[in-house]
Amino acid sequence: MCSHVRQMARSLSSPAASKLRAVIMGPPGAGKGTISKRMVEEFQLAHLSSGDMLRNHISKQTKVGQKAKQYLDQGKLVPDEVMLKLIMVELTQASETGWLLDGFPRTLGQGKALAEETSLSTIVNLDVPFQTIIDRVKGRWIHLPSGRVYNDDYNPPKVCGKDDITGEELVQRADDHPDTVLERLKLYESQTKPVIDFFEAKGLVKTFSGTESDVIWPQVKEYINNINFF
Ligand code: AP5
Ligand code: MG
Repeated sequence: MCSHVRQMARSLSSPAASKLRAVIMGPPGAGKGTISKRMVEEFQLAHLSSGDMLRNHISKQTKVGQKAKQYLDQGKLVPDEVMLKLIMVELTQASETGWLLDGFPRTLGQGKALAEETSLSTIVNLDVPFQTIIDRVKGRWIHLPSGRVYNDDYNPPKVCGKDDITGEELVQRADDHPDTVLERLKLYESQTKPVIDFFEAKGLVKTFSGTESDVIWPQVKEYINNINFF
């Protein structure tokens, strides 16, 4: 069972499960996965990470995975029709509980489809300088089955190269090569920034600026605790 499904099952069984329907946005490497991990634990949410879903499909060599691999390897965006199918199925399954979307929407087409299908509580937007991002992703390691993220400097695993929970091997992402990161940052500017503008006009975006996830996290927590989303 992949991580977001496990998390979803936990949420469904928890009496404290909230009905928050949130999106976390920000450039690649901004710390969306890092802040998401804390949000889903704190607020008992299903974590729907589009990147983790795609990497799981690629590692299992499913049809979706075979289609998506070429895009991820080049730092390009997977076509909207593939992403929309994938995410809408997950959202339907999570409709009874609170959820956090991470990595979706990323194009105006995806944003408009999401706005039509759901009533969002909020969008947490991480604003982190590009140079900080380029330095960070060099040291990133991930546990593929769960999507858990480590960093050589910031949050190293207890045992080098091994996941803290399962002891399984950690890997570096193929798309974390510096040239590919630059391509992803460019795409973020041209394709994803307009999505933020679209939701900003609806009054849904709360932006957190900074370079440290440990400083940003308490601000996000306080903000979520104080919004009325029921
Ligand atoms: P995805 O997996 O969503 O990648 P991304 O958005 O590019 O973001 P990342 O996962 O790289 O970064 P993050 O913000 O989660 O940062 P993290 O917490 O890891 O998507 C990958 C690909 O899939 C896309 O390029 C595309 O091809 C495809 N795709 C996905 N969704 C799609 C969609 N909707 N439409 C079309 N295509 C789609 O942090 C980064 C690093 O920094 C880590 O090493 C972390 O430990 C470290 N770190 C975090 N905080 C700090 C800190 N304060 N100090 C030091 N290091 C820190
Ligand atoms: Mg991520």
